[in-house]
Amino acid sequence: MEQRKKIKSYVLRTGRMSNAQKYAIENYSNKYCIEYKEEMLDTKKFFKNEKLCIEIGFGMGHATSAIAEKNPETDYLGVEVHTPGVGRLLSEIENRELKNLKIIQHDAVDVLNNMIADNSVHGFHIFFPDPWPKKKHWKRRLINNEFCNILVNKLKKDGYIYTATDWEDYALQMFEVFSSEKKLENVYEKWAASPLWRPETAFEHKGLDKNHLIRELYYKRV
Ligand SMILES: C[S@@+](CC[C@H](N)C(=O)[O-])C[C@H]1O[C@@H](n2cnc3c(N)ncnc32)[C@H](O)[C@@H]1O
Repeated sequence: MEQRKKIKSYVLRTGRMSNAQKYAIENYSNKYCIEYKEEMLDTKKFFKNEKLCIEIGFGMGHATSAIAEKNPETDYLGVEVHTPGVGRLLSEIENRELKNLKIIQHDAVDVLNNMIADNSVHGFHIFFPDPWPKKKHWKRRLINNEFCNILVNKLKKDGYIYTATDWEDYALQMFEVFSSEKKLENVYEKWAASPLWRPETAFEHKGLDKNHLIRELYYKRV
């Protein structure tokens, strides 16, 4: 029987790469990228801290490198499919000499399912996931009940999920998905207060330019 095609939450864009991004891909991938494999990641081989946070869809990685630099006692794994963004973040890791940030360039759903152990993650950051604004595309949105279930299984007790979006209907969808999960507790009544630790991202900037309201959600695993 023909297998149903998996719905992806992204479209691979053929964005132009700058020379700096190409240089970084060629020269720093071996140093800072972890190869996607269908086997559990030996985190001790790549990281040295107790806490591991995973950022899904870091885009150009503006927030990623800034957060990792500010928190050297926490390890960060950025997962992204877009090559120019990977190139840009590789440059940042090299230039800022970050020892606590690595990258996997692959679909985050596969990475979590096949490489990340249950009860092992301290936090998930998902900043401005692709909004898929047309209703007929909502099925492509990353955050749904199935994906929430994967995140929850990977979280340690007291671990957290932090999301932000500038699309009101997606914010409401996220709120409903996370609130219906019994193992998650909203740290706020509904929307999180804008955190000082999260630098503005490229997509957030675009949303603000269009006068979109930014909604953030912060849940802890109970
Ligand atoms: C709208 S952009 C936001 C980028 C960045 N977080 C920001 O705020 O500027 C969403 C990003 O998520 C990435 N993405 C979407 N689905 C993904 C998946 N399943 N695995 C890895 N990356 C994904 C896309 O390639 C894209 O770069």
